[in-house]
Amino acid sequence: MGPGRVVTAIEPGRGHRLEMCVKNRYFIISVVNDGIAGAIMTLDARARSEPKSTLQKMTIHDAWSRQYRSGENDAFYALAFDYIASVLGDPNSASVLDAGCGSGTKAFELVKRGYLVTALDFSDSILERARADAAALGFDGRVQFSQGDLTALALPTGGVQRCVCWGVLMHVPDIGRAVSELSRVLGPGGVLIVSEGNLRSVQAATLRWIKRALGRERAEVIPTEAGIEFWEETSTGRLMTRQADIPWLVREFRRHGLELVQRRAGQFSEIYVILPWRPLRRLVHLLNNLWFRFPRLAGPAYGNLLVFRKP
Ligand SMILES: C[S@@+](CC[C@H](N)C(=O)[O-])C[C@H]1O[C@@H](n2cnc3c(N)ncnc32)[C@H](O)[C@@H]1O
Repeated sequence: MGPGRVVTAIEPGRGHRLEMCVKNRYFIISVVNDGIAGAIMTLDARARSEPKSTLQKMTIHDAWSRQYRSGENDAFYALAFDYIASVLGDPNSASVLDAGCGSGTKAFELVKRGYLVTALDFSDSILERARADAAALGFDGRVQFSQGDLTALALPTGGVQRCVCWGVLMHVPDIGRAVSELSRVLGPGGVLIVSEGNLRSVQAATLRWIKRALGRERAEVIPTEAGIEFWEETSTGRLMTRQADIPWLVREFRRHGLELVQRRAGQFSEIYVILPWRPLRRLVHLLNNLWFRFPRLAGPAYGNLLVFRKP
């Protein structure tokens, strides 16, 4: 068996998993409850840290901008941040932490609603772009950018009262460490809003099934207790994207002292990123906006918004 190969995929939540790191190699053994299927894989410890260097380069950030920056998406984010502002409460002199800010689009949504923002990311290149955009928008006095790693935050324990972490944990291999750090820096009464992709959504389950049936999965697929990790080889290095096991994530934050206050739908689907036809993409955006406003059910939706509070 070669390194990093999954023998048989399993559905997380239905089995057990053992992960060992011996001499800089991870050995992961997963067994489902009924014993019908199992997965054994090894992954080089260096490969697990590679996404960090991939995210230092602009290539992947530019690709995300092409996929996610559109008039329709901006309209959705405006809707989502009206909701987020209603959860965060009135702006005051304490800044909101945007943990994993990327190009700063979510930080700018907060600034537009009157908040002061501290926007943090570990990628210098994207921070440089975000700083330039903030200056061009005249927001530079309202948002401060800072370089930092979610798995080792250089912030005092309990020093943050409000935090937004949108689409970030899905790219952090050591998600347990990031959950622990976010929980540590949040002070009593503090609020954390997390946006992640839901493993059990209609989109995720259908696309996994189609790709498996057609043998079209290009990524290395690794089931873990936190969700399903997709390790892709991009032109500038490896990138990991996780479809989250939301109940696991909620339990993990609870283990670190945070209570779930609300779980609601974000975007029902992000399938617009691969649809070639504009009218079809518009239809998906229409569904996303309607789903966000009315049923709001998180279970079938791909985007999930989780609101946590520290008692
Ligand atoms: C998909 S982007 C999302 C950016 C932004 N939150 C948004 O929604 O537009 C993920 C961002 O998380 C950052 N990131 C990933 N792992 C991180 C870590 N451990 N510490 C800090 N930033 C991280 C990446 O550099 C990237 O900018």
